[in-house]
Amino acid sequence: MLIIKTTGLLSDFIEKQEEIGLSIGFVPTMGALHAGHISLITQSKSANDLTVCSVFVNPTQFNNKDDFNKYPITIEADIDKLEAAGCDVLFLPSVDEIYPPGIEFPLYELGYLETILEGKYRPGHYQGVCKVVDRLLSLVKPTILYLGQKDYQQCMVIKKMMELRNIHAAVHISETIREKDGLAMSSRNTRLSKAEREQAVKIYETLTFMKAELKKGSLTETEQKATDFLTANGFKVDYASYANANTLELISNWNGTTPIVILIAAYLDEVRLIDNFVLN
Ligand code: PAF
Repeated sequence: MLIIKTTGLLSDFIEKQEEIGLSIGFVPTMGALHAGHISLITQSKSANDLTVCSVFVNPTQFNNKDDFNKYPITIEADIDKLEAAGCDVLFLPSVDEIYPPGIEFPLYELGYLETILEGKYRPGHYQGVCKVVDRLLSLVKPTILYLGQKDYQQCMVIKKMMELRNIHAAVHISETIREKDGLAMSSRNTRLSKAEREQAVKIYETLTFMKAELKKGSLTETEQKATDFLTANGFKVDYASYANANTLELISNWNGTTPIVILIAAYLDEVRLIDNFVLN
């Protein structure tokens, strides 16, 4: 696997691949790779001539300094995993490579998407995500961008950013990979204590409960029950909500036909976990 650390070398490399006409699959990550990331690499490999993965803990998307400082960094293990998965290129830039002095980004007009759920509870987060993904896409110029469904709202935000910026890569969203007990795989899971790790599965259980309870009419009582259940189990809940799976508009009264996504964000001590179920 080729490891490239500068934007200059990456651009030279990508230019050569473009000349030959190779298709490029791109998996952007913040490292601390797990089976969810590796499944994106595998999917990219099966559909593209070349797979590029980036590992960059993006400071502009952390609205909480402590969360940034404590973000797990496991680069040696990440390199081993990427090599074992057959990834072709790892882009491993420094902060100065991604954000050199003088670089400017637009204000991304994300509208409603930035005012609800993650947008509401993590102000500025999505502007930071848009900046880094915009920059990475301009360097990697992928044929297909691979994202995980666990970050459901992020997928919608990135698609919106690509529309705003006229970026034409295809976007492949891959289903969430779970631990045996149902907990969604996440780099942040490594920060959970043994007891918290056992508790964490309650998020999956709550999503399962909310799915079972979904019926036409008011959904607010079920949302409240879900929040109360998580709170009673030691979580600090940001939201446990039903939304329109296409627009992410929050739904408190369901007409029985609008496609639904159920989304939860909750803290165990200082570790913030998110998960969702998309209902067919
Ligand atoms: O989902 C992530 O890991 C990050 O938000 C991303 C897309 C790599 C941007 O930093």
